[in-house]
Amino acid sequence: MKKNLIFYFSGTGNCLKVAKTISKNKENTEIIPMGSSHIYEFDGDYESIGFVYPVYFAGLPAAAADYISKLVLPKDDNIYYYTVNTCGSIIGNAFAQLKELLEQKGAHLDYSAKLKMFSNYVVMYNMKENVKEITEKSDKDLIPIMENIKNKYKNKTGKKNSLLEWWYHKEMKVIHTKDQHFNVSENCTSCGICVKVCPVDNIKLEGKKPDFLHHCEQCTACIQYCPEKAINFKNKTQNRRRYTNPDINWKELSESNKSY
Ligand SMILES: Cc1cc2nc3c(=O)[nH]c(=O)nc-3n(C[C@H](O)[C@H](O)[C@H](O)COP(=O)(O)O)c2cc1C
Ligand code: SF4
Ligand code: SF4
Repeated sequence: MKKNLIFYFSGTGNCLKVAKTISKNKENTEIIPMGSSHIYEFDGDYESIGFVYPVYFAGLPAAAADYISKLVLPKDDNIYYYTVNTCGSIIGNAFAQLKELLEQKGAHLDYSAKLKMFSNYVVMYNMKENVKEITEKSDKDLIPIMENIKNKYKNKTGKKNSLLEWWYHKEMKVIHTKDQHFNVSENCTSCGICVKVCPVDNIKLEGKKPDFLHHCEQCTACIQYCPEKAINFKNKTQNRRRYTNPDINWKELSESNKSY
């Protein structure tokens, strides 16, 4: 029987939930975390290869783009390549960016789907309150996407917008060191959850409080999963709500992210 792969990146659990839901719907599917895996070569007989990640600044998370650029994909024109991009509202250039990355490897992106989910960038705004409503809607919206994937439906990917591309590169230049603006309050109990949920091992807990190592992806997992709300960005997030996907707790995210 042919195998299936899903590469995912996830900060607050939305994309892990999507990757897991698709994998349950498709026999013989393995899910691989793009933030922490160091395996880049996949040999074998594959039916489909999927990419599930959150849209960051109208493009791919840097860790996902970097991982995909290193992938050595099987030489088989019959593999069905698809992507599900989760976002708060705007996909921008994310499909086109993935398409380009795959084309550099001789692979063609067959199907791209946008899935609106809860928008989690707490650093920029106070997040919405209606988590249940948004989650129920995205759960429903995922059903026809999974059907399309099952039926190997194909669609076209649009061209890049140059203004959004400029914005993406501007943000990406500083993204890894934005953690220099993180601070940890006296409420920290040194529980280590932030260390465990970070998808790119950017946190060390050598002293009593976490240290950030400046290869941050801004995924917000540490800020959002900290049970004490002890991690903040400058003085901006102290009074803002926190969000994590209601179906993905910190243990599940951590175990899945560290599984490769
Ligand atoms: C750094 C950052 C940048 C983001 N940029 C966008 C964006 O450009 N467009 C958008 O619609 N959502 C944006 N979002 C929201 C996420 O794409 C969305 O909440 C996603 O479902 C989170 O997935 P996760 O829970 O798997 O991390 C951004 C979130 C973060 C953390
Ligand atoms: S998750 Fe919060 S309380 Fe736990 S070690 Fe990290 S900052 Fe401290
Ligand atoms: S340090 Fe925090 S925001 Fe940065 S990648 Fe790790 S968990 Fe995400």
